[in-house]
Amino acid sequence: MSIKKISKTQPDSFEFSKENFVLAEKEINKYPKDRKASAVLSLLFLVQKQNNNWIPLIAIKYVAKLLNMPYIKVYEVVTFYSMFNLSPVGKYFVQVCTTTPCMIRGAKKIIDKCKKHISENQNELSKNKICSWTEVECLGACVNSPMMQINQDYFEDLDENKSEEIILQLLEDKFPTVGSAKNRKNTAPENGKTTLLELKNA
Ligand code: FES
Repeated sequence: MSIKKISKTQPDSFEFSKENFVLAEKEINKYPKDRKASAVLSLLFLVQKQNNNWIPLIAIKYVAKLLNMPYIKVYEVVTFYSMFNLSPVGKYFVQVCTTTPCMIRGAKKIIDKCKKHISENQNELSKNKICSWTEVECLGACVNSPMMQINQDYFEDLDENKSEEIILQLLEDKFPTVGSAKNRKNTAPENGKTTLLELKNA
């Protein structure tokens, strides 16, 4: 698991775009007035989405102020959850699962492709600063291993060539087709159903 790194370069200011401010208010209004803090995760996701996939320290202060929370409490949330990034990860953040089922089915080859095309070390931006990669623990799609997550989407049933193709597309600023590389629907068997054949929707 990678260690959370705080960027040495930080912006001087942060505020939500008009559109995100409306969304933030909507989230806050879902809770009683004295329980605004309950919206903290939603607001942090909005920050990360607006700010190219990472959360600057000034944005943590901004969210703390909006929610009437102490800065340290919001900081604790950001540093606890692995899905929040505290330094730039690029427009495309590739998370490769390296837990046992994915490892057995070839995750190491995906890592090799990341090293070859994105950057030698994880948590480093590619030369064109558009992409970075990291190893993560199980992402809950073991049945379709090996797999990786890019931003919010899953790419499953990968092999060496498919993962290389995806990475090269990202580096050209193109977003690849999401889902199973074998066109499996969810976790359906690769060669079609073998049981419950008499049930239409099983
Ligand atoms: S082990 Fe890779 S998704 Fe679970």
